[in-house]
Amino acid sequence: MPSDNRDSDHRLQTRQLVIDTANFYMEGVGREGISRTELTAQAGEITQAQQRVQAGSQAGLDAEYAALNLAHEIPAQLPQIQAMASELRRHRDVVVIGIGGSSLGAKALQQAVAPQPPLAGTPHLHFVENIDPHFLQRLLTSLEAESTAVLCISKSGGTIETVVQYLILRDWLTRRLGKNIARRHQWIITDPENGWLRELAIREDLPSLPVPPQVGGRYSVLSAVGLVPLAVLGVDIEVLLRGAVENAARCMTSDVAANPALEIAALCVLLDTRRGKRTAVMMPYVNRLQLFVDWYCQLWAESLGKWDRARPGSTPAGTLPVRAMGAVDQHSQLQMYLESRHDKFFTFIELESHEYDLPIVLDDFDAPHFPFLKDRSMAEVIDAEFRATRQVITDAGHPNMTIRLPVLNAHVLGQLIDLYQRATIYAGLLYGINPLDQPSVEIGKRLAIDYLRGTRR
Ligand code: PA5
Repeated sequence: MPSDNRDSDHRLQTRQLVIDTANFYMEGVGREGISRTELTAQAGEITQAQQRVQAGSQAGLDAEYAALNLAHEIPAQLPQIQAMASELRRHRDVVVIGIGGSSLGAKALQQAVAPQPPLAGTPHLHFVENIDPHFLQRLLTSLEAESTAVLCISKSGGTIETVVQYLILRDWLTRRLGKNIARRHQWIITDPENGWLRELAIREDLPSLPVPPQVGGRYSVLSAVGLVPLAVLGVDIEVLLRGAVENAARCMTSDVAANPALEIAALCVLLDTRRGKRTAVMMPYVNRLQLFVDWYCQLWAESLGKWDRARPGSTPAGTLPVRAMGAVDQHSQLQMYLESRHDKFFTFIELESHEYDLPIVLDDFDAPHFPFLKDRSMAEVIDAEFRATRQVITDAGHPNMTIRLPVLNAHVLGQLIDLYQRATIYAGLLYGINPLDQPSVEIGKRLAIDYLRGTRR
């Protein structure tokens, strides 16, 4: 590669997210924002949250907040991750089975940064997340067992949706290839010791990789869970991890002005508890971030939507994350955002440098109708749309922040993932809840099994 190309690649990879929280504050948005005095008054709690995260991150992958150490620690496993990816790459199709945290991160990363068009020779990834017989039946009729690999991902190794889809896929492979050959088409990512999937991997001698025991599903994207599918697609996973490490380095202090994850967490919690903002809308102006927003929604909702069990009767924590997409939702949700209740705050994501841009061509008939489009490009239009929407949201008095991505690549995505994993954990600690568990979801899982057993109707 010529050195000027290498330099420009390096520059692109080393650029940081720009996080603009000005409109979360009163100076930016008026009385619905947070005052500097309110934030300063929380300094004690904020410092405590930061110190807890710091202390709880001390023991590498054995730490309480091991997820925040993945980007540092997982490089030791990269040879095994790359080896599994290259085995999977030998197939034309890879069916990835997993749900929630065992799927959303990889899907989001694929959409955001996988090479387009796909690199020659890379398989087609099929994520079968939901239980939908119609979807799975249609997928199976489009596949040939000889050229299909099945990658089953489940931290617990026993999630019912994942187990069911894997049983069906395994049977499908076995009927077509026979048990011994079918075995060579299956790969597993799960807990290193526990669960049905781990037992199966040992019993059948299936190739497998571990999810560190301390890392829960929605925080696992930077483990083999997210990295294997991405590596299959030819994404440079080391660059992704480097982005996360660099963001982590920006988030080491209890001074909110120098720790963007902590500032976001503190402001979001204050907007909820002091200003009654119960809805957190995330609105990127980039199609490729649609699934990233889904990933964020799961992380934020499942981590923060709970009550403090030590304080029965206390107000439950959490703001409801809502997906939006600019400019599409300007023609759908925006009217409600502007005129309905003042119970929302917004996170915009804008892209500074578009990889491709398209000039707008006007002929003599068009030009008088759209004089403002003369010499403009598509990227300039989406940029104007974003600015206009942010302006009207701000003028309506809604607190909002903007994350500006210098470019959309693996390095920037790594930063964004670390930023939100950290902000979510800080926010949980500021609310006084455990951001790592999901106690009520577990009750639902047990009930579904009762319905299947027939002990409940
Ligand atoms: O974040 C979580 O813990 C959940 O969303 C899980 O990812 C989801 O329930 C799937 O669990 P598992 O990976 O154990 O199959």
